[in-house]
Amino acid sequence: MALANQKGGVAKTTSTVNLGVALRELGYSVLAVDMDPQGNLTMSQGVDPETLRVSMFNVLVQGVPIDDVIHEREIHVAVASIDLAGAELSLAPVIGRERALAKALLTVRDVYDFILIDTPPSLGLLTINALTASEGVIVPVQCEYLSLRGLAQLERTLELVRENLNPEVHILGILPTLFDSRTLHGAEAVEVLRSNFGDLVFNTVVRKTIKFAEAPVKGMSVLTYAPHSEAARAYRALAREVINGKTI
Ligand SMILES: Nc1ncnc2c1ncn2[C@@H]1O[C@H](COP(=O)(O)OP(=O)(O)OP(=O)(O)O)[C@@H](O)[C@H]1O
Ligand SMILES: [Mg+2]
Repeated sequence: MALANQKGGVAKTTSTVNLGVALRELGYSVLAVDMDPQGNLTMSQGVDPETLRVSMFNVLVQGVPIDDVIHEREIHVAVASIDLAGAELSLAPVIGRERALAKALLTVRDVYDFILIDTPPSLGLLTINALTASEGVIVPVQCEYLSLRGLAQLERTLELVRENLNPEVHILGILPTLFDSRTLHGAEAVEVLRSNFGDLVFNTVVRKTIKFAEAPVKGMSVLTYAPHSEAARAYRALAREVINGKTI
């Protein structure tokens, strides 16, 4: 599954980590792949991107086995650092450049129950690679009017990926995030989402809380940092929805 939205700061990385750990708690084996040169997923599991000898850049561009860049933390993480920014350029002339990630994952597809791919805030080649390698996409959306507008563009990109690269990939669900219950605006934004996308919107709505900013600093998920918080409960509920309803 890819977690994608070209808008920045909508909780793609936060959702990748916490959904991953929630699935792990349920007994599934989980790999999270960091496809963002910012390396936020890598960092939020306590790995310093600057200390890495090999990372997703080497996997995508040089064919290094993905096993070599997987670190075992709360979940398994295929790590990334800033050099991944150069992958788009390095891959540009390569035949099959959109399939580099799908190819790299072949060796581990059957090892994990779930592979979650965190993507950068753009619809460039790294995100296209993630969509090409995925069966489904989870789209975190910030509960604000303006963030709802980017969804059409993401859907167009998905349509192109389906036509040309991966006929299977579809939206598994839209996840309302950063919900502020104190404002009418937040509630209205969720209404607008549900009236436009109906069942595609997860029942789980992730509220705004400072815990999500605190946990990554400690290199851990909210489920470990504050196991009994509402924040942790939200991602556990999402994990159950992913397993039950929105089947792959
Ligand atoms: N429910 C929440 N409540 C409060 N803060 C949150 C919540 N979810 C995420 N955040 C915070 O919002 C910021 C953006 O989240 P995150 O990095 O997950 O977004 P992103 O979509 O991955 O961003 P980018 O597009 O830059 O990769 C982070 O500082 C994160 O800690
Ligand atoms: Mg991110």
